[in-house]
Amino acid sequence: MKKKITLSTRKELKSLLIYILSNSRSLYSTRRFFEEGLKRNHKMRVYPPLSLSMMIEKQNTALYFQKEKLKNPDVIISRLGQRKASYSQAVFRQFEMLGALSLNECGAIVRSRDKLRTLQILSQKNISVPKTFFLDAPEDIDIALESVGGVPVIIKLPEGTQGVGVMLAESVRSARSILESLLDQEKHVLVQEFIEESLGADTRAIVLGGRVIASMQRKSVANEFRANVHRGGTQKKIKMTLETEKMARLAVELLGLKFAGVDLIESKRGPLILEVNPSPGIEGIEAATEVNIAEACILYIEKLYKLKKNNFM
Ligand SMILES: Nc1ncnc2c1ncn2[C@@H]1O[C@H](COP(=O)(O)OP(=O)(O)O)[C@@H](O)[C@H]1O
Ligand SMILES: [Mg+2]
Repeated sequence: MKKKITLSTRKELKSLLIYILSNSRSLYSTRRFFEEGLKRNHKMRVYPPLSLSMMIEKQNTALYFQKEKLKNPDVIISRLGQRKASYSQAVFRQFEMLGALSLNECGAIVRSRDKLRTLQILSQKNISVPKTFFLDAPEDIDIALESVGGVPVIIKLPEGTQGVGVMLAESVRSARSILESLLDQEKHVLVQEFIEESLGADTRAIVLGGRVIASMQRKSVANEFRANVHRGGTQKKIKMTLETEKMARLAVELLGLKFAGVDLIESKRGPLILEVNPSPGIEGIEAATEVNIAEACILYIEKLYKLKKNNFM
C-alpha cells in the first residue's frame, strides 16, 4: 500500500521562539501578536526593553532579564516606546547581532520614527509630501512661515506620535509664539503647510510584505484637525485607489520596512504622505476593517524565517 503523504506547511516549520519587545504586555497590539503567535504554536515571550541588561565582550554578547541569561530568539517583534529610546534600540540591536530575524529592522524603525528623515527620503524619490520647513533658529521663523505659504500652518515635533506633537497655528502671532517656545526648549520643529481641504480626514494604510492589507479612513471629531484614533477620531474601512496604494507601498519600501502604517492626506494636488509609522497600533484598524493583522504578521514572519533558513535573504 502506498504511503499517504500529507502536505502540511505547518509541519515544515518548527515552532519559533519569538520575543516581543514592548513596555507593556497588556497593550492591545502586543497582546494580539502574542495570542496569534501562540495559535501558530510558537513560543512567545514579552520583554520590556528597559528591563533587559546586556553583556558585551570580544565575540560574545548576551542579554539578561532579572539575572537570567536569555535564550537567543529566532524572531524579534519590536514595539519600542519613546522613553529612553537609545537604550531600547541598543537592546534591539543586540538581539539582531545574535542573529534574530526582525519583522522591522532597528535601523529602519529609527529612520522612519523621524518625520524629517522620512520626508527627506520620500521627497528625494519623487513621492508627494506636504511642503515642509525644518528650522532650529528663531531668526528663521519668518522664512519658514513664508516658504510653506503663510498661516494657518501645522507645527510638528519630529518624533511625536498619536497626534500629541502636532499643532495648528492660525495666526502669525500664535505660530511665532509656539515656535519660539519650542525652539527655546532646544526642540527642532517642522513647519508644514496646513492641508485644509482634507477636512480633518486622513487615510491609514497597513502595508505588510509589499502589500496593502488593510486601509481605513480616519475622521477627526468637531473642533479637532487631527484624525488620530487617540484624539477621538472615528474610523471606517475604505478601498484605496491603485495610485495611493502604490504610493504607500513604495514609501514603506524606501524606508526599508516590512510592516508599517502609512498616513496619507488628500490635498488639491492629490494624495500626500504625512508619515510612515514603523510600529502601528492595530486596535482601531482591526476593528474597522475586520482584517486579522496580527495573524498576517505571524504568517509573514514564518515566510521570512523559511527564506532566511534557505539562505534566500
Ligand atoms: N499638514 C497637515 N495638514 C492637515 N492636517 C494634518 C497635517 N499634518 C497632520 N495632520 C493631521 O494630524 C494628524 C497627526 O499627524 P501625523 O503627522 O500623522 O503625526 P502623529 O505621528 O502624531 O500621528 C494626521 O493624522 C492628520 O489628521
Ligand atoms: Mg500619524
